[in-house]
Amino acid sequence: MCGIVGYVGGRDAVALILDGLRRLEYRGYDSAGVAVVSGGSLQRRRAAGKLERLAASLADEPLDGDWGIGHTRWATHGQPTEENAHPHQDCTGRIVVVHNGIIENHLELKARLAAAGHRFVTQTDTEVLAHLIESEYEGSLEQAAARALPMVRGVYALVLLHRDEPQTLVAARMGPPLVVGLSDGERFVASDVPALLHHTRDFLFLEDGDVATVRPDRVEVRTLAGATVTRSPQHVAWDAVQAEKGGYRHFMLKEIHEQPRSVRDTLAGRFSLEDGEVLLEELGPAAAGLLEASRIVLLACGTSWHAALVGKFLIEELAGLPAEVDYGSEFRYRTPLVGPGTVVVAISQSGETADTLAAFREAKSRGALPVAICNVRGSMLTREAEGSLLTHAGPEIGVASTKAFTAQLVALALLALHLGRLRGRLSPEKCRAHLSELTRIPHLMEQALHREDAIESLAGSLTRATDYLYLGRGVNYPIALEGALKLKEISYAHAEGYPAGEMKHGPIALVDDTLPVVALCPDGGVYEKMLSNVQEVKARGGRVIAVASSEGGELGALLQGSDDMILTVPSCAELWSPFLTVLPLQMLAYHVALRAGRDVDQPRNLAKSVTVE
Ligand code: G6P
Repeated sequence: MCGIVGYVGGRDAVALILDGLRRLEYRGYDSAGVAVVSGGSLQRRRAAGKLERLAASLADEPLDGDWGIGHTRWATHGQPTEENAHPHQDCTGRIVVVHNGIIENHLELKARLAAAGHRFVTQTDTEVLAHLIESEYEGSLEQAAARALPMVRGVYALVLLHRDEPQTLVAARMGPPLVVGLSDGERFVASDVPALLHHTRDFLFLEDGDVATVRPDRVEVRTLAGATVTRSPQHVAWDAVQAEKGGYRHFMLKEIHEQPRSVRDTLAGRFSLEDGEVLLEELGPAAAGLLEASRIVLLACGTSWHAALVGKFLIEELAGLPAEVDYGSEFRYRTPLVGPGTVVVAISQSGETADTLAAFREAKSRGALPVAICNVRGSMLTREAEGSLLTHAGPEIGVASTKAFTAQLVALALLALHLGRLRGRLSPEKCRAHLSELTRIPHLMEQALHREDAIESLAGSLTRATDYLYLGRGVNYPIALEGALKLKEISYAHAEGYPAGEMKHGPIALVDDTLPVVALCPDGGVYEKMLSNVQEVKARGGRVIAVASSEGGELGALLQGSDDMILTVPSCAELWSPFLTVLPLQMLAYHVALRAGRDVDQPRNLAKSVTVE
């Protein structure tokens, strides 16, 4: 949801800011802009559309500056036009601001400021910030921000500059993330760590209510009330290469292929095969609370919500604990029955999804034990959790989540096994057997990924399909949902995921020879049931694409039609089959989208981190 970059130092600010924005484009890409200062002159350039439009305009008519700010936008208020693109400025043209978030009382503030003579030229909520700061300005941008921001309701990560305060940025946070990158004689501000990994791995993570004054040689952080606070620098383990495409055509494809590695890394060091135990000391104080859990509530959005559905299955099966799954966006708009004895597990790649965070806080305030499964150390979610289980997927840049999903499945599998041992539901021997199956998974994933050619040619035969039905049962029902979501997100084809047993209660009416039906039929307890569903589709002339452990058997005999296809994945314990069945679905979505000429890494209307409600 919008990417922010700021720079103070002596180098070419435009190039540095553009480079940072390019690495943040996954956060929003409908318009972009920069404002830089050189020799006391402030210049601004903005463009509608992707960042490359702004870059082209800057290449045609370069701007000079050795400090400044930039923004890539995901529109909330006002169309993605050049006029509405950030940075926004005040009436004097001396103050500019970039912002990520929503100012909820912007209409009220705008009316007040307009009555006082301020001229508004955009439809954005952000513009009020520039005028509000202007109205409070008495020679210090930092003090103006500290006076203005308490009047603002809503969420924001913002960076301001004033033309006449050289080499100074003021950054403030209330909600969306903001980090300060520390380098020799220069400082950066950004929405996210990957934007700056080429320059530094040392960061200050701003917290809610912080106002930071950033200069090339120092950063001062104060609260809105003016009290000095210390934010200690943290060294991050991610390196710049992880946030590059590494020879792949798209980030999504690279991330699909990184999954065996990320699953291995997320498993590493967290169990003892010898003892048949899962070791989750990192849960810290939350570890003790797990013992008293009578129920688990899993909260998430999007792909992470599908991981939560798999988690429910695993926790109930392996630990015998009731588990419920809720959308972050739904949970807090009813009266959730959570309290002491409930462990609330929020699952989020970014750790900054507004709906997940809000639901998490609600559960926490009702006395539930808050635990996070998250891919970003130091994110809002991990900071608010009593204990966190980090996934080690590395930076995920493609908007459609892939490697973060399978890493979340690992964390959930470990949590379920751990709970199973704690509650005496699993003996060490049983736990060991599950763990040793789990350790085979990365290798099996590698094998599954080698079958990409078949999927590429299948995608070639689907160019006319506009609707798809995905069916799965048991632990693979969430994978049907995830397969359909992947396809929708990046190819814009309509796809619906359904529990296969429910097909007869409605979706079966959709079946004809134009509707590809993707059926998840790996070996396991529900294989026969899936066969019946496949038969039902075939009986109505439907076209079936099955994901199965082998091409033979009854399924092979059933699917002999020239249009049908079986995509095989290696056989494994049914509980862990989602790790494998999801792979052909990710690749299918990728290749269908590619054929359709879609922008795989930056699908229309979406953003990677949704930091607004
Ligand atoms: C957005 C992304 C999805 C992601 C969801 C939840 O919608 O496009 O890929 O699954 O947010 O994000 P989170 O960071 O909380 O996992």
